[in-house]
Parts: sequence; C-alpha cells; structure tokens
Amino acid sequence: MSYRRETYDYAMSQLEIRRSKALSELTQHREEVFRKVPQLSELEKRISSTGFSIYRIIMAGNDVADKIKKLEEENLQLNKQFIDLLVSNGFPSDYLEIKYYCDKCQDTGFVNGQQCTCLKDLLKQEASRKLNSLTPMKLCTFDSFKLDYYPDNSNENGMSPRERMRSIYNYCKKYADEFSLDSPSIIMQGATGLGKTHLSLAIAKSAIDLGHDVIYGSSYNLLNKIERERFGRDEDNDSYNNLLECDLLILDDLGTEYTSAYISATIYSIINTRLLSSKPTIISTNLSMEEMLERYSDRIVSRILGSYERLVFVGKDIRLEKIKRNM
Ligand SMILES: Nc1ncnc2c1ncn2[C@@H]1O[C@H](COP(=O)(O)OP(=O)(O)O)[C@@H](O)[C@H]1O
Ligand SMILES: [Mg+2]
Ligand SMILES: [Zn+2]
Repeated sequence: MSYRRETYDYAMSQLEIRRSKALSELTQHREEVFRKVPQLSELEKRISSTGFSIYRIIMAGNDVADKIKKLEEENLQLNKQFIDLLVSNGFPSDYLEIKYYCDKCQDTGFVNGQQCTCLKDLLKQEASRKLNSLTPMKLCTFDSFKLDYYPDNSNENGMSPRERMRSIYNYCKKYADEFSLDSPSIIMQGATGLGKTHLSLAIAKSAIDLGHDVIYGSSYNLLNKIERERFGRDEDNDSYNNLLECDLLILDDLGTEYTSAYISATIYSIINTRLLSSKPTIISTNLSMEEMLERYSDRIVSRILGSYERLVFVGKDIRLEKIKRNM
C-alpha cells in the first residue's frame, strides 16, 4: 500500500492535530479543576513528592524495602483521596487523564512500528477526497450502473448490447473486488456516453477502499500537467513519477490530449514503464482501433493490444437515454 508523499504529509499533520488537541484538552481540564478545587492542586503536589522520596530512600540505602512499601501505600492512599475529591466535586474520575483520539497508538499512527488502523483510515480518506474533488465519483458506483439502458435486441453475432455490457460489468465488478498489483491492465473502448468513465471510477473507488493509491485523470489534463512541469511552468513537479508509481492509473479519454512528439513519447513511457513494473493501468477512449493506429505510433498500439485486457463498450449514449426517459 503506497500513497503519494502529499497524502502521507496530510495524514501525519492530522495526527499531529489530534495529539495537540488531546494535550490542550488535558491542560484545559487541569486549569478548570485546580481553579474550582485548589485542594486538588495541593494533593497533586504531595503525590509527586512521594515519587521524589522514593528516589531519596534508594539513595540513602537502609531499610529501603520497608520504607518504599510505606511510601507506596501512602501514594495509593493519596491517589484514592484525589479521585474521591475530584468525583465529589462533580468531575468524571478520568477527567485528568489524557484522551487520545486513538488509544491504540496514542495518535502517533504507529503500533510496534506498524501503521495503526487510524493512520490507514486517514490515508484512505485523503486519497479518496482528492479523487472526489476532481470528479463526481460518488455517483459512479457499481450499484448505480444499470443494464436496462442498453438495448437487448440481438445483433448479427447473436449477442445483444445488454448481454455484452452485462459481461463487461461482471468483469469490472470482479476486477474491482479483487484488485491487486497482479491485476491486468484494461483498455475500455467505445463511443461517448456508454459508461466507460462510470465503470472506471467505480473500480477506482473500490481500489482506494482496498488501500491502494489511485490516480484518475483525463488524458488531456494529466499530460498537460506533465508537460507544464517538464518545461518549468508548474510549481510541483512530481506528477510524472506519481503516474508511473501509483498502484492504479486511470487514464481517461485517451485521444483528447494534444499531439506532439514529447507527449507521444510520454504516453509510451507511461504505458511501458507501468507494464514492466507490473502496475495496472486502465485506459478509456472513444477511438476505434483504426483511429488509434492513425493517431499513435505502432509501438504504443501494439503494447496496448499485446498486454491489455480489451473491453469494447456498445449501446446508445446513456446521457440521451436518461433524458428520453425523463420526458
Ligand atoms: N449503465 C449505466 N447506468 C447508469 N448510468 C450510466 C450508465 N452508463 C453511463 N451512465 C451515466 O451516463 C453518463 C455518461 O457516462 P460515462 O461513463 O461518462 O460515459 P463514457 O465515459 O463512456 O463517455 C454519466 O453520467 C454516467 O454516470
Ligand atoms: Mg468518459
Ligand atoms: Zn491509531
């Protein structure tokens, strides 16, 4: 499970906020309690001085065990008195204990060197928030994907668009449920409005929930950003590496980017590097195979044809179908 650096930075800063909130709450409680019940402040001083006495007894060196035992009893007694007084003044008995958001890791994010579940949750939430801020992902789920928009009349191959789309839907659902770095790359082809973006976002959401680091973007936006970084017109400059390294890259609407030798080399490099390092990529495009061959070099098309799972979407533009049904 790897996330982008800024996602980690965000999660760590959230943990820091939680820690300082816990501390400032404790400070607030102490001030409140000692202001209302000054006796408690006196008691606390006595309790901490018993600790100091134990240290002195050990240094002095005779009858150590006996004396320590007596002091410990005294300490216990004082603590009990302290809690009784606290409670009798209307405070909860644990009012002066520090309250972490997460007890397991005390808001450090780690337990025995392992990421705590609270840190994992923060990372997931942030990754998904980022994706959501760019796209209306909430609406694009497997549940909201309906097959009855696709015609169920058979074509010459004997399979209706609805049947074909059902098998594509099932494939994508299974892919999403079982997503891992071993999953294959996918190319989704087909005309506008057939659900390519919808299904790729549904997969993205599921991969994020499984703890993966997902980048989604239109080919136009992502490549534009890389080019701006490359030629020094953008502040941050790790988009390119992020695209190469994320667990799942969704390159939507291939064919909408500008064409240039630089962009063409970048597309090849993204596809090739990710295949070599076994990182799944989902590409969607309105271009047919012929149009792809016209637009891209042979090596790009043959890389995709040779190594990607190909899903050809069919049917009628769902946007129009939805409008018709609402009339
Ligand atoms: N099978 C479907 N069921 C419900 N809504 C769909 C379906 N397919 C597409 N849509 C919706 O129709 C619109 C266009 O779909 P989209 O996925 O953007 O198409 P594409 O990417 O193939 O051009 C979106 O609002 C999408 O949520
Ligand atoms: Mg689309
Ligand atoms: Zn935790």
